[in-house]
Formats: sequence, structure tokens, C-alpha cells
Amino acid sequence: MEKLCVKTQALFLTCILSLFLNVFCMSESETNLSLMEKSEKEALYSVIQGFVGKWWNGSELYPDPCGWTPIQGVSCDLFDGFWYVTDLNVGLIQDNSLRCAPNAEFRRHLFEFKHLQTLSFINCFIDPHQHAVTIPTDNWEKLAGSLVSLEFRSNPGLIGQIPPSFGSLTRLQSLVLLENRLSGELPATLGSIARVRRIVLAGNMFTGQIPASLGGLTGLLIFDSSRNFLTGSLPSTFGGLTSLLKLDLSNNLLDGMLPSGLGKLKNLTLLDLRNNNLSGGLTKSLQEMVSLEELVLSNNPLGGDLMGIEWENLQNLISLDLSYNGLIGGIPEKMTVLSKLRFLGLNHNILSGIISPKLAALPSLGALYLHGNNLTGKLEFSEWFYGKMGRRFGAWSNPNLCYPVELIPTGHVPFGVKPCQQEVTLLEADSKTKLSDVNSDLNASFSVSLGYSNYGVDGSWAFIVRGMVVLLLLIYIL
Ligand SMILES: *[C@@H]1O[C@H](CO)[C@@H](O)[C@H](O)[C@H]1NC(C)=O
Ligand SMILES: *[C@@H]1O[C@H](CO)[C@@H](O)[C@H](O)[C@H]1NC(C)=O
Ligand SMILES: *[C@@H]1O[C@H](CO)[C@@H](O)[C@H](O)[C@H]1NC(C)=O
Ligand SMILES: *[C@@H]1O[C@H](CO)[C@@H](O)[C@H](O)[C@H]1NC(C)=O
Ligand SMILES: *[C@@H]1O[C@H](CO)[C@@H](O)[C@H](O)[C@H]1NC(C)=O
Ligand SMILES: *[C@@H]1O[C@H](CO)[C@@H](O)[C@H](O)[C@H]1NC(C)=O
Repeated sequence: MEKLCVKTQALFLTCILSLFLNVFCMSESETNLSLMEKSEKEALYSVIQGFVGKWWNGSELYPDPCGWTPIQGVSCDLFDGFWYVTDLNVGLIQDNSLRCAPNAEFRRHLFEFKHLQTLSFINCFIDPHQHAVTIPTDNWEKLAGSLVSLEFRSNPGLIGQIPPSFGSLTRLQSLVLLENRLSGELPATLGSIARVRRIVLAGNMFTGQIPASLGGLTGLLIFDSSRNFLTGSLPSTFGGLTSLLKLDLSNNLLDGMLPSGLGKLKNLTLLDLRNNNLSGGLTKSLQEMVSLEELVLSNNPLGGDLMGIEWENLQNLISLDLSYNGLIGGIPEKMTVLSKLRFLGLNHNILSGIISPKLAALPSLGALYLHGNNLTGKLEFSEWFYGKMGRRFGAWSNPNLCYPVELIPTGHVPFGVKPCQQEVTLLEADSKTKLSDVNSDLNASFSVSLGYSNYGVDGSWAFIVRGMVVLLLLIYIL
């Protein structure tokens, strides 16, 4: 099967191509057109005219759309000696792409293409007030034999629901409905798109529960329905998504517990459920998701503790964010063997107990946030660690935490943490500096961090004023 790739990526390539095609057709004959069924060609002209406006006369501008007068955004392919449209990309994708008119509309001819594989609308329907458009509800089954990829992206003027008839698109591998104004519930028929590998529904206004039928999509690799208004709990059927690599349902209104079936997702690398209303603690089955690289559950009233999980099983973890999760209890020693960990966020929980000095030995650690807890005792990290991490080590707002006073002369001390108490009392006698309370929530403006090495000169308490920056060293007086 020959393929004429009309869709070119770079502008200069397009120029070269059209130059070549012009020379080609001069030497041949302008009437020698690529063979196309009349109905296919007329459908193409009509469909595009519907989107770009009545002024656009395809038969005049592009007499040979699959041959020597290619249309930007349209690709064709040869089937049994005839050319058919295989790709149609509408909207502002490149400078010379098919821009949609303010009154862009779908025409029924869209469903007459016999071999359409890719259909995308990017920045096409842009006016939610004057001209909101809905996706046609019927006829999608006519494209079922060929359509592999369907995309609506960045269309603020695209409203209404997902047509349940999308479920008839059994060859579809990619369904992307990203950043439109679509609403309503997700149709259960999405679970019939048996071959689908990617479903992206992020940044719309979808409501209601996630259909349990989606759990049957055993080939699904990516499911992203973040930034919607989905409610209810994560379907227990999700354990059936055994191929899944990425699951992002962050920024919704999901509640209930984490289903134990998640443990079956052995290939999952990303689980992002931040900013929901999940509760019931961490499920022990998390420890079975052995491929996990990023686990983000922050901002959920999860509750429970960290102790029940064999963290050492999750050796691929790079980023673990469990901040604002209402967690109690201690920080398990088992976490200190996660050698790939670069980000550990446990801030703003109710964690207590001591902080294992082994955390500082995690070889890849670039940020460690433990602030806003009830951690206690003496911080036993090295001066080098504080120097390296700066404000990316957060331990402030743990009222019963302190650091050894010997570190003060080095200037490398944990921000917002007080020196250990008896030592403070000693120093206090000599100190002429006024000491302020550490606020429990430090301002962003306050956390301007410049030059850790600039204070603590000859071991005395000092304010150093440099230019606009006032760096305060604050301690508690108990
Ligand atoms: C184009 O014209 C040439 C002769 O001019 C002919 O041999 C060829 O079959 C034509 N091709 C098509 C696709 O009509
Ligand atoms: C396009 O132009 C042709 C020839 O100039 C004309 O016959 C035809 O009616 C026009 N079609 C539309 C849809 O304006
Ligand atoms: C998981 O990933 C491995 C390695 O990439 C692959 O061989 C296996 O088929 C995947 N499992 C599923 C259920 O897709
Ligand atoms: C979160 O879930 C709790 C029940 O667990 C419920 O009482 C509360 O209203 C929910 N909050 C929101 C914002 O939905
Ligand atoms: C913090 O821990 C101390 C014991 O170290 C305990 O007395 C106190 O109640 C805890 N505070 C909170 C808010 O849990
Ligand atoms: C925090 O910021 C507010 C306004 O942004 C300011 O009024 C207040 O003084 C700041 N507090 C500290 C401790 O810097």
C-alpha cells in the first residue's frame, strides 16, 4: 500500500513538497488527478468548509486534495487504486493549518469517510459564549471500521456530553478529550472500546462516578481524568486494568477508600490521586505496585499511618508525596531503603516520633519535607546535609524538634527549627539579639533563602542585612 504523506511537520518541508508537486504537475497535466471517489472528495470539501467557513471553496483551491494540491492537515492513502482521506486535523495546529471559523460546525459528511483513521480538533471551537458546539451524538459507528485516534483538545467552545456512541469505535486506540468544556457523566460505553490504550479526559467538567465498565479495558496504558468534578469512589474493578502505566485522577471530588485491587496494577508507574476526598488510610496493597515511580496522594483526608506498608518493596519509587493526608504515627525505618527516592513529602500530617538519620543517607534525595507535623527529638543530620538541601529540607513547625547547637557556628542549620533546649538556655544569657517566635506557617516571602553561610559568623547570633534581604535566625524561647 503506497502512502502519500501530505501532512508534513515543518513549514519548509511543506514548501519543498509543494514546489516539487508543482513542477511535477506542470510536466504532467493539470487534469491528471489522483483517483478519488466523487463522494469521498465532496465529503472532504464539505466537512472542511463546515469548519473553516463558507468562503473556503475546496474544489477551486484544492482540485487534487490527495495529489498535487495537498490540504494542510489532511493525509490520504491508497486503497484498491483509489485515494481516501485517512487523517483529518482541524484547528490551529500550525501557522498554515486549517483554522476554524467562529461559527465552525460539524457536517454529517464527516461520517462518510471510508478509511478515516485519525481525527483531531485542536483550538477549533473557541467561543463558549457566542457559539458553543456539541459533539455530534450519532453516526460514530460509521467510522468504527477505521478510526484509531480521536482527539478534541483545547476547545473552550466545545460543550455537552461524551456521546455514548463513542463506545462503538472498537478500533480506537487513543481517545483524547483534553481541556474542553465537556460535562455530564462519563458514558459506561467507554468500557466497550476494547483496544483502547489511552484515554485522556483531563481538564473538562465531567461529573458523576467513574463507570465500573472501564475496569474491563485490559489493554489500557494511560487513564487521565484529572481536573474534573468526578465523585464517588474509585471503582473496585480498576484492578482489572492490568496493563496500566499511568493513572491520574487528581483534582476531582472522589471519596471512599483506595480499592485493594490497585495491587494488581504491577506495571503502574504513576498513581496520582492528589486533591480528592479519599479516606480510610493507605491500602496495604500499595506495596504490590512494584513498578511505581510516582505516588502522589497529597491533600486527601486519608488518615491511618505509614507503618502497615512494606515500603522496601517499592524500590522504583522516585517521588512519594503524602502531604496533607492526616497521617499519624511514626516515619518507618523501611522508607530509608528507597534508594531512588528524589522527593519525599510527608509535611502537614500528624506524624510523631523521631526522624531517622538514615533518611539523609538516601542517595538520590533532592527534597525532604517533614514540616507541619509533631516530630520530636534531636535532628541528627549532618551540617553537609543542611547545606546541600537548603530550603528543600523542611522540618519547621514541629514544636518539639530541635537541632544540636554545635551546628550554629557552621551556619548550616535546618530552617525554622530551634536549637536543642538546654543549649539554648546557655546561649541565651550572652545573646543581645531579640528573638522572635517561629510562626507555625512561614510565609513564602519569608522563606527567601540566600546565603546560609552568611550568618552565624564567629558563633554569635546575628542579623546580616544584605541589600534587600533580611535573613532572620529565629528560635523559640521555652
Ligand atoms: C496520468 O496520465 C498518464 C499519461 O498522461 C497516464 O499514463 C496515467 O495513467 C494517469 N494517471 C492517473 C492516476 O490517472
Ligand atoms: C466553488 O467554485 C466552483 C467553481 O468556481 C463553483 O462551481 C462552486 O459552486 C463553488 N462551490 C462552493 C461551495 O462555493
Ligand atoms: C508489564 O510490563 C512488562 C514489561 O514491560 C510486559 O512484558 C508485560 O506484558 C506487562 N504486563 C501487562 C499485563 O501488560
Ligand atoms: C468528603 O467526604 C466526607 C465523608 O468521608 C464528607 O462528609 C465530606 O462532605 C466530603 N467533602 C467533600 C468536599 O466532598
Ligand atoms: C505531639 O506529641 C506529644 C508527645 O511528643 C504529645 O504530647 C502531643 O499531644 C502531640 N500533639 C499532637 C497535636 O498530636
Ligand atoms: C506574612 O505575609 C503577610 C502578607 O503577605 C504579612 O502581612 C505578614 O507580616 C507576613 N508574616 C511574616 C512572619 O512575615
